[in-house]
Amino acid sequence: MATSKRILECDLKGGNLVRTMIYPGTFDPMTNGHLDIARRALHLCDRLIIAVLNNSSKKTIFSVSERLNMAKTALEGLPGCHVMHYDGLLVDLFQKEQACAVIRGLRSESDFRFEAEMAAANKLLLPGYETCLLPCRSDLAFTSSSIVREVASYGGDISGMVPAEIIDVIREKFNRTDYRDKQNRRQQNKDV
Ligand code: COA
Repeated sequence: MATSKRILECDLKGGNLVRTMIYPGTFDPMTNGHLDIARRALHLCDRLIIAVLNNSSKKTIFSVSERLNMAKTALEGLPGCHVMHYDGLLVDLFQKEQACAVIRGLRSESDFRFEAEMAAANKLLLPGYETCLLPCRSDLAFTSSSIVREVASYGGDISGMVPAEIIDVIREKFNRTDYRDKQNRRQQNKDV
């Protein structure tokens, strides 16, 4: 189905067109880069679903409920923004929510290659699927969830990288004894 037709067929509530977009990610954890994309995406649609998904090639540090709660806290108060977890294919969620496009942030050429592959694969699975790539703010071009995790694991300052409301949750995760024990055990195994 052509996108324009799909947009026209989105929910008509009280005569108003409701354009739904999905911003999917692992969000392990959500960063200021993600927050900026979400805020800007809200200017392009009426309803933005932040979908906390699983990327099978990533082993996450934060559990699904921790990632979900952090995203909810960081995005609280943004009108039209809904945070949810989905355990399945993105195209299935796209169809279920009658979305008109998926939003993804673009930081670099390497991001583009990954995004182009993902967009093409999803389009093959669902012809009506569309991707909208938003270039990230230049001051956030080097922010990533893995850099946040790395800095936080050494007790460094993550305040410029993540929303203020979730700093304590991230710090606490890396301070927890079970996390530190696991890291120590891993290090000991490497040393022998
Ligand atoms: N600013 C700063 N950083 C950004 C950013 C931005 N605007 N946009 C992305 N990033 C970073 C993230 O911090 C993250 O960094 P990291 O890799 O160092 O941890 C990385 O770019 C991308 O992570 P994220 O945005 O959380 O999403 P993802 O690429 O892991 O998401 C899914 C991929 C979940 C959308 C994809 O795997 C998926 O759709 N899964 C569902 C199953 C499915 O349908 N699979 C088929 C896909 S073809």
